[in-house]
Amino acid sequence: MDDRSQEFLFKVLVIGDLGVGKTSIIKRYVHQLFSHNYRATIGVDFALKVMQWSENTLVRLQLWDIAGQERFGNMTRVYYKEAVGAFVVYDVTRSSTFEAVTKWKHDLDRNVYLPGDFPLPVVLLANKCDSVRTGEDKMLANHLRSYCQENGFLNWFYTSAKVLQFHKENVNIDEAARFLVGHILNNKHLLIDHQSNEDIVTLNETVTSTRKDSRCC
Ligand code: GTP
Ligand code: MG
Repeated sequence: MDDRSQEFLFKVLVIGDLGVGKTSIIKRYVHQLFSHNYRATIGVDFALKVMQWSENTLVRLQLWDIAGQERFGNMTRVYYKEAVGAFVVYDVTRSSTFEAVTKWKHDLDRNVYLPGDFPLPVVLLANKCDSVRTGEDKMLANHLRSYCQENGFLNWFYTSAKVLQFHKENVNIDEAARFLVGHILNNKHLLIDHQSNEDIVTLNETVTSTRKDSRCC
């Protein structure tokens, strides 16, 4: 690694109701795999995606796949600790999972924030877009655009862990991840500010797991 090289480790949460496709999105993104079988996640699962962001910048994305059923438990505060971004996922074929998006966002805003009390950057994923009927997608897009503006989401993406389109490896999962990581990198001064408090160990090598009082859950 030369002097200009930078390496970051970002903890990113993936949350949303049961069966919306969180694990499938991560499996597709990290391992290029998809399965129709549903096995509910218990507690939390982890995956690591290494992104060569640019010639000199490497990003390790530590994805925390939090079980949908955890919204009814009281562990989320522990799981959220030291995250620097999040995806909230819902299933476009089940409206109840969209209603739960607001609840997940409130849970995040109550329990986790960036150093300096800034809210966590959050991106909404409208998953299983392979199942949206033609014509519905534009209406939904307008709705999601204004929903995100009104509810403090950075942006939203249609995603599918299932289909491969246009010879891409997945629909929009890479784009959504690059969008969130780009935002985190552009705002990394929010994290740097706390270096003087020794909250951040080092930014130009590895970020996160940074507070002195951090514990492994
Ligand atoms: P919990 O672990 O219970 O919170 O669920 P989850 O959000 O991790 O859901 P999971 O990824 O296990 O997916 C649930 C079901 O939806 C599985 O049967 C998947 O095959 C299916 N699924 C996931 N993503 C997609 C998608 O993009 N399109 C379609 N058609 N099905 C999907
Ligand atoms: Mg799961």
